[in-house]
Amino acid sequence: MSDLQIISVSLGNRSYDIEIGSENLEHIGSFLAAFKPISSVVVVTDENVIHYDYAHQVAESIAETGIDVHLLSVAAGEQSKTVETAATLWETLLEEKIDRKSVLISVGGGVIGDLGGFVAATFARGIRFFQVPTTLLAQVDSSVGGKVGIDLPKAKNMVGAFLQPLGVLIDIKTLQTLPETQYQSGLGEVVKYGVALNAGLFQLLETNIEKINVRDSQILKQIVAECCRIKATIVAEDEFETTGRRVLLNYGHTFAHAFEIQSDFALLHGLAVSIGSICAARLAMRMGFVDEIFLKRQISFHQALGLPTEIPDGIDWLQTIELMRHDKKSEFGKLRFVLPTGLGSCRLVDNVDSQILKHIL
Ligand SMILES: NC(=O)c1ccc[n+]([C@@H]2O[C@H](COP(=O)([O-])OP(=O)(O)OC[C@H]3O[C@@H](n4cnc5c(N)ncnc54)[C@H](O)[C@@H]3O)[C@@H](O)[C@H]2O)c1
Ligand SMILES: [Zn+2]
Repeated sequence: MSDLQIISVSLGNRSYDIEIGSENLEHIGSFLAAFKPISSVVVVTDENVIHYDYAHQVAESIAETGIDVHLLSVAAGEQSKTVETAATLWETLLEEKIDRKSVLISVGGGVIGDLGGFVAATFARGIRFFQVPTTLLAQVDSSVGGKVGIDLPKAKNMVGAFLQPLGVLIDIKTLQTLPETQYQSGLGEVVKYGVALNAGLFQLLETNIEKINVRDSQILKQIVAECCRIKATIVAEDEFETTGRRVLLNYGHTFAHAFEIQSDFALLHGLAVSIGSICAARLAMRMGFVDEIFLKRQISFHQALGLPTEIPDGIDWLQTIELMRHDKKSEFGKLRFVLPTGLGSCRLVDNVDSQILKHIL
């Protein structure tokens, strides 16, 4: 096992550590030992991830410490983030006699993290939760911050809770088996942190494009750690999304959500964020926050990473504006965006004129 990086998420008595390494899945048994007594552990994963043995390695490492482990697998993909799948898991937890001294561990992407976390938050009024994210998107975004939940048929992430995990263990090795489009979707979020929140990260990314494109483990470890650190800092300042700080993580997202809905979610989230970030940069340029050099640098950066920058066919600008007015994060139908003001900095802008948007879309 190579050198580990530990990022602390400071949330008072809900504080926890994110451990980032390579080949460190089997380290989970000793990580969890700090939280004894543990009556049993439920590992939840999906049917793609189980194929790569990550969940088995986690289960074996825990079983070696003498704890009873149950391994549960659900269908892969967003289709599992439903109340039906949650209910099946609740029933299974009951049958397996899971109690409030048990721990539920999600091993998988953001779907398994959100679903497993939601089940942990609700079963027996809450059992302890641990995350082992295996997609780039989950490692840099969804596993940090404590939001867990499921979808309603007409509204994503509509039912959920805040539940901070006991800890997060990230094994960079798992990224090697990720399908290319999923890897790029994760990069869409990575780029967001660099452009909107941290110029140092942007420079690290810009000078390591080739290594990122071949998934070099050393650089990925550095990048994932940096993204976790940035998100952890923001979450520590605004855990429950009340002060407006956490909303800055939504750079590119108002546009992205409207594109995802119109594509019927065929467009992956991080790819939609990539396009949405370019739209936000264009809007910022129109409003005088950044210059053309900024926009061009961002576009060529996205392109070098193979990320999309153009609005796909079939996206209607009027519908996009309507959807953006009613985005979950908007208030009173106002058009609201996180816009860049320079490299690594951004601000929330309320009440954007829809006439300006016409030129962007
Ligand atoms: N809670 C949050 O703060 C937050 C933030 C962002 C996104 N999300 C949620 O995250 C979800 C998206 O997450 P995602 O992009 O990770 O999707 P996902 O969980 O569906 O994973 C994508 C695909 O990759 C497969 N996979 C996972 N790890 C793999 C690996 N190592 N090798 C090969 N295949 C692997 C999965 O089986 C799946 O088919 C959405 O539901 C979104 O709402 C939550
Ligand atoms: Zn996102």
